[in-house]
Amino acid sequence: MKNGLEDVVAAETQLSDVDGEAGRLVIRGVSLDHLAEYASYEDVAALLLDGLIEGNLEKENLRRRLGQARTEVFAHIRAIDDDMLGLPPVDIMRALTARLPDGDDLEAALGLLAAPAVFLPAILRLKNGDEPVAPSPSLSQSADILAMLGGGRPSKEKVKALDTYLVTISDHGLNASTFASRVIASTKAGLTSSVLGAIGALKGPLHGGAPGPVLDMLDAIGSQDNAKAWLNQALDRGERLMGFGHRVYRVRDPRADALRYALRPLIDADQVDRERIKLANAVELAALAILKERKPDRPLDVNVEFYTALLLDALGFPRDAFTGVFAIGRTIGWIAHAREQALRGRLIRPRSLYVGPLPQAA
Ligand code: ACO
Repeated sequence: MKNGLEDVVAAETQLSDVDGEAGRLVIRGVSLDHLAEYASYEDVAALLLDGLIEGNLEKENLRRRLGQARTEVFAHIRAIDDDMLGLPPVDIMRALTARLPDGDDLEAALGLLAAPAVFLPAILRLKNGDEPVAPSPSLSQSADILAMLGGGRPSKEKVKALDTYLVTISDHGLNASTFASRVIASTKAGLTSSVLGAIGALKGPLHGGAPGPVLDMLDAIGSQDNAKAWLNQALDRGERLMGFGHRVYRVRDPRADALRYALRPLIDADQVDRERIKLANAVELAALAILKERKPDRPLDVNVEFYTALLLDALGFPRDAFTGVFAIGRTIGWIAHAREQALRGRLIRPRSLYVGPLPQAA
């Protein structure tokens, strides 16, 4: 038995490859570096769905239909009542997503891709006491998310940064939420069921719930001078440093650098809190040195969540919404894996090792 299924290969996939030793991520034959620089969210959606779902995936058609789908799912916002509004954003997203019909076709997939992009900005506005902003179907997914969030036209730097984020986190091998999606798809349940299960797996702090706590950590550290002492005290208390460590990567997570570069145009255009970036850089350096010293047998480096926190903060998302933005980007990976599993895989049904008591002999 392998606790946590570490190193167990549980699926064959053509979707993405995570090389943890080399620090390399390949999505359908294309390196992350290339995608992060040149691809849009719609490009990557088409790349991941290619051959797995029937229908016209040509870029302009996909963009148009995704825009229409955003307009259609906006009607579900009306289901948010005061009780629901008291829940964390990702839980409201999960509740609203559960209203979508289960299906396996392009229409079902587009509804599920559009849903988190529409739900999250509306939830955040409602929590703030503001009216939700209706989607603009002619915009790209990234531009529309920011327009629905802020109520105005977003800067081109911000649209590009969000696009890079959504592309960067679109798929990542057999992570916990993607595995959950595949397990559900292996029973031939529909795509909505797979995505719902995946959202549940994503929200934990060991997976997609880490970036909010990264900002909490930076706030608690407060100043560059305090970084070393604070980090050492946290480790003395047996805590983990959020945004560091990974089950597969033994070197730097390549997504962290893709997001670090994505921040640069925002820094140049003065659209970020420069002091926070400087503090984060100092904390990163201090944490890497301390982890190396205190955990010499376990290479621990920065992971995607560290720079996710800085980027999403710069884009105006509150920290309790970060997991929800992750869900917006990762839904395409969940859907592609669910389709691949449903088309080519078998029912996933591992066995357990019983270590409980046996019945007493009579
Ligand atoms: N800070 C301090 N120590 C750490 C950290 C960390 N962030 N991560 C791992 N370690 C240590 C553990 O304490 C353990 O040390 P020990 O053997 O002396 O007890 C050793 O490294 C191995 O830890 P495991 O829990 O076995 O490693 P695992 O592969 O299960 O953990 C995980 C991976 C969950 C990401 C872990 O590194 C962690 O908790 N990181 C902080 C949370 C985080 O950033 N999550 C986001 C991950 S990225 C994503 O999911 C999108």
